[in-house]
Amino acid sequence: MTDAPTDPIAGAEGGQRRFPPSEAFRRNAIAGPELAEAADRDRLAFWAEQARALRWERPFTQVLDWTDAPHASWFADGRLNVAVNCVDRHVVAGNGDRVALHWEGEPGDTRTITYAELLGEVSRAANLLADLGVRAGDRVAVYLPMIPEAVIAMLAIARIGAVHSVVFGGFSAESLRARIDDAGAVLVITADGGWRKGAVAPLKPVVDAALELPGERTVRNVLVVRRGGNDVDWAEERDLWWHEEIAAMDTTHDARAFDAEHPLFILYTSGTTGRPKGILHTSGGYLTQAAFTHRTVFDLHPERDVYWCTADVGWITGHSYVVYGPLANGATQVLYEGTPDSPDPGRWWSIIERYGVTILYTAPTAIRSFMRAGRAIPDAHDLTSLRLLGSVGEPINPEAWLWYREVIGGGRTPVVDTWWQTETGAIMVSPIPGITDAKPGAAQTPIPGIAIAVLDESGRPAPAGGDGLLVVTEPWPSMARTIWNDPERFRETYWSAFPGRYFAGDGARLDEDGDLWLLGRVDDVMNVSGHRLSTAEIESALVAHPAVAEAAVVGATDETTGQAVVAFVILRAAADLADADASPVLRAHVADRIGAIARPARVHVVAELPKTRSGKIMRRLLRDLAEGREVGDTTTLADTGVMRTIESGMRAG
Ligand code: PRX
Repeated sequence: MTDAPTDPIAGAEGGQRRFPPSEAFRRNAIAGPELAEAADRDRLAFWAEQARALRWERPFTQVLDWTDAPHASWFADGRLNVAVNCVDRHVVAGNGDRVALHWEGEPGDTRTITYAELLGEVSRAANLLADLGVRAGDRVAVYLPMIPEAVIAMLAIARIGAVHSVVFGGFSAESLRARIDDAGAVLVITADGGWRKGAVAPLKPVVDAALELPGERTVRNVLVVRRGGNDVDWAEERDLWWHEEIAAMDTTHDARAFDAEHPLFILYTSGTTGRPKGILHTSGGYLTQAAFTHRTVFDLHPERDVYWCTADVGWITGHSYVVYGPLANGATQVLYEGTPDSPDPGRWWSIIERYGVTILYTAPTAIRSFMRAGRAIPDAHDLTSLRLLGSVGEPINPEAWLWYREVIGGGRTPVVDTWWQTETGAIMVSPIPGITDAKPGAAQTPIPGIAIAVLDESGRPAPAGGDGLLVVTEPWPSMARTIWNDPERFRETYWSAFPGRYFAGDGARLDEDGDLWLLGRVDDVMNVSGHRLSTAEIESALVAHPAVAEAAVVGATDETTGQAVVAFVILRAAADLADADASPVLRAHVADRIGAIARPARVHVVAELPKTRSGKIMRRLLRDLAEGREVGDTTTLADTGVMRTIESGMRAG
């Protein structure tokens, strides 16, 4: 195993402290030890029971079919409609007046949408999509800010059996186009722009630029929500205003049921090569596990909780824990458009106070930046409504965990550190808040029904306390079914390291209590502010610049963002770019090619890169430099002097 980041346990006294749930929390918790007992007794029967909590138009009789491994089928002969499960079901049950969304825009405008209203909106949008000729199985790209229409669009697409591919609004025209083409999308749903940091960030112009690039021509229409009020160009034949079209639509829509294995969405994520992977999720199994985990891990009491997950719907966390999990459970939730510090650094805390948020789910990077800003900011707000806190996206260091519980949770709330991935679809490892004695910094236990092992490279269990690789040993309902257009890559990436078992790409350790600690990625995937980025993708963006001859990218440990992108580039001899100008130019170039989230924190111009005799770049050594550490073992380098050259060049620069 290589390159696991700093040890989360060593030096963190907090890591060994235990925080049992309070007696009151335990008494009222919806999940008790009987859940894990049932799952241990009969895993498949356990998942079948969870699936039966959904509404099936045709009940399933089969649970798992693994004969075509690694492509799983769950509940295959059952039929359901995902949107009906997330909306209609609650209205039918008499909860139509319950608030589904408390939405707040960054400028302070608000909308409250009940389940009955959501049903009307989703129905109108479903009718519109059908009118535009979108059919079951067609792909629709969604490129929207965090506004109610994002949720409505996703549910409407699901309702008619089409497949959404949501692209995070921070991605560039080129990244958007690559995703549109790979999925063969027939429609793009976007907005003129969305509010971010006190200004409108344009989106429609990015869609226009994306569709002007050369390539396939699958997109027939662009549906545009008016949000930012910014001026936009208009292609008469192609572009439609959402508000104009929707106004003419009926608020009822007869939803039909689809097979449990009917595709629900594609979500692109970074891998170890330059090309993003289109992770495919299907309906019944995905919804089962998203709903089950949302209920049990967050101890959801839908009639009284106010839940807030701060993730953008452009990421898997937004899919499973803003849209599908909470809505399948009939939760009341907050949806917020903007950034945490607009217009002031207390924005999140005032939202919690205003809506009486009881459950908060966010990322360690956010917690660490609040820590840095100081506790006076949250302390100025009444956060006593909070009763449970969650963390996701990267390992949470014990210091941040303790601060989160103490300062945000008032020293009372359980904190659940949830490990999972785009590919796993839903939470896989997490404390269960009414049961587990929490240990700061550890994700601790597989959730009931999930089988995890920590193995060494030869496939044997890693010794207790020793580092190993995280592996899922049994199929699970919300697992990715394949990579869109590339089933071979699916098999190769996840199922070839340990045949029959799923290799997650994360390092892990089981401590002497049997608790699981996540140690970060063991491959060339970086994690910056909880977002997955590929070193290879950023390297290929850099070498696409005419001035760059070679590039190597590493993720260097960063106090706030977890990791930061650090690039080392060799400029072409004839490059029209002075060394001193290279950093700002190339940083902007990467942001332009991939999106602002991929912009390197630092770009170092170097004369050489460290390579093995076979020509492989040794990123491990560059990471030592980027983190200001003594450079490790260089004996496998073709030229052992190269690190000294790079280091003195960096000092001079
Ligand atoms: O490295 C792990 C890290 O995020 C990766 C998955 O990224 P993505 O597919 O974008 O999904 C993020 C949100 C689920 C994992 O391979 N990761 C996620 N959650 C944790 C984590 N690492 C440690 N602890 C976590 N709780």
